[in-house]
Amino acid sequence: MPALPDLLAPGRAGEERDGYLDLLGAGEDPTGSLPGQRLMASRVLPLIYERLWRPLGGRVLMGALGPSMAGERRIALDMLEISPGDRVLDVACGTGSFSRAFADAGGEVVGLDASRTMLAQAVREEKNPARPGVAYVRASATDLPFRDGSFDAVCCFAALYLIEDLLVAVAEIARVVAPGGRVALLSSVARGPLPAGVSDAVVRPLTGVRIFGRDDLTRALADGGLVDVRRRVSGLAQFVSARRPGSNPAAP
Ligand SMILES: C[S@@+](CC[C@H](N)C(=O)[O-])C[C@H]1O[C@@H](n2cnc3c(N)ncnc32)[C@H](O)[C@@H]1O
Repeated sequence: MPALPDLLAPGRAGEERDGYLDLLGAGEDPTGSLPGQRLMASRVLPLIYERLWRPLGGRVLMGALGPSMAGERRIALDMLEISPGDRVLDVACGTGSFSRAFADAGGEVVGLDASRTMLAQAVREEKNPARPGVAYVRASATDLPFRDGSFDAVCCFAALYLIEDLLVAVAEIARVVAPGGRVALLSSVARGPLPAGVSDAVVRPLTGVRIFGRDDLTRALADGGLVDVRRRVSGLAQFVSARRPGSNPAAP
């Protein structure tokens, strides 16, 4: 498990709660007020999230021929190229299924989410003594509590479309990636004849899920100074990878 104090930005302190470090105040809830966003903070969803909700959601977004959950984990691992000892941040980790896969690959993993109930479930899922631990943190994806360049790999799957301010979230992800570090994102993308704005205007108020235009994410990553920005589209989803230029002076 990574040593959180080495990664936290100066002045960031929180309270240990139910097995995770809570850096948000009691009244702070950045998960948003639209229906799909509220579900993420509910008590029931985390219980069925990993085995039912998320696999079904993947099918809706990517179609019957899209990658399974195991396939998604492989894609994330390919994009992030995790070596043993790499510091890995899983932004909006939910119940931590990707965080645990990164820990299994040898990463020193921090899982960050804003939902207390998702994090409590992630901690329960973590209680497998054979698995290297993940450090869980409650904080906002739009105000990451970490020092600049503190992670070798940053993942954010199935969450950017729920976050109110995409550009701030992507800028934060770009800020915390170390030189030579990798980023992997999974989010929605508009397909077909309708402009993204039209699909978004219909889908978002009902579900909380934003439909991104084809270049919104890739442009935001490039604007954050990342290079080698690559995209793979699957149904209404896009997997996007990128890298911060340079090499990490701390690497062996
Ligand atoms: C659909 S789940 C994705 C979980 C996991 N990444 C996965 O792929 O299965 C979306 C997660 O985003 C989190 N989330 C939404 N808005 C957030 C924000 N502003 N900051 C941190 N987490 C947020 C929710 O609490 C929820 O756990």
